[in-house]
Amino acid sequence: MSHTHKPVMLEEAMDALNLGPGLFVDATFGRGGYTQTMLKHKGVHVIAIDQDPEAICWGTQHFGPDIEAGRLVLHQIRFSHMESILPQDKEVRGVVFDLGVSSPQLDNAERGFSFLHDGPLDMRMDQNGPTAADFVNTAPAQDIARVLKVFGEEKLARRIARAIEKQRNEKPFTRTRELASFIEALYPPQQKTKGKIHPATRTFQAIRIHLNQEIRELEEGLQKAAQALVVGGRLVVISFHSLEDRVVKHVLRPECYETVSPYLPPRERAPGEVCFQGPKRVLKPSMDECRDNPRSRSARLRWGERIL
Ligand SMILES: C[S@@+](CC[C@H](N)C(=O)[O-])C[C@H]1O[C@@H](n2cnc3c(N)ncnc32)[C@H](O)[C@@H]1O
Repeated sequence: MSHTHKPVMLEEAMDALNLGPGLFVDATFGRGGYTQTMLKHKGVHVIAIDQDPEAICWGTQHFGPDIEAGRLVLHQIRFSHMESILPQDKEVRGVVFDLGVSSPQLDNAERGFSFLHDGPLDMRMDQNGPTAADFVNTAPAQDIARVLKVFGEEKLARRIARAIEKQRNEKPFTRTRELASFIEALYPPQQKTKGKIHPATRTFQAIRIHLNQEIRELEEGLQKAAQALVVGGRLVVISFHSLEDRVVKHVLRPECYETVSPYLPPRERAPGEVCFQGPKRVLKPSMDECRDNPRSRSARLRWGERIL
């Protein structure tokens, strides 16, 4: 089991944050790869968040001197609730999100995120509430189909959902490998050819996103981060699939910037509206990084500077 996590696009993310003296938020602490680099900069203070109690416990044990020196505060909370722990009297200069699961979560079979390691069907990042087993064993087939289609873009969503509903009446699903093999058997042989992803990949991704409410979390988390930032502060997000990237793009859209154009009449601004300006182009990991860390391959980095 891996206890470490290779931070993805670390250099690019730190550059985009524009580190300098002041308060920064690491919204997805994980194994603290970003936090550690942020703290190397003189005068930087970090508030780090993770919803996984295990990540916070690990951080408390490994970042003792920074915590004691008052440079790091850790909070076990969902990032959609970050406003409840951010100090009112300090300006937030940057917030970084590195989405998805960490390597220790993925590689620990007991957390049930992966079918490469057999474990209980769990998949809860915060270790609270219904498990993946609860979902596949009790949700109506049409709900399962919708989740697989929307969050996994799974073409066989309905077929898989109906088969799950039939099978669970005989024996409920309890293990990750059991579910993965069951899905694999439903796939036509020609679609299981070498080089393609495992047939259960999309289903596992979809259940994880649904269970952890990842898209709603992201929408609310980005809004809270945007509101917390000082004008001139940076919002930096590394996402791993198109559903996430779509949300990030929407928040960082340069619409407001465009209306500053001299050719357009000034638009009424909604109260509390936040606007960003930054490169339209998405940043991708280098070829070297993709080779050294296969988990970085689908990473996409976008950032924006708050201008209003
Ligand atoms: C990819 S890892 C971050 C790795 C980190 N950048 C590092 O270098 O170690 C993502 C982390 O974010 C946490 N996470 C995901 N969604 C969250 C949410 N909505 N609120 C708080 N933490 C979340 C996960 O528990 C996981 O530990």
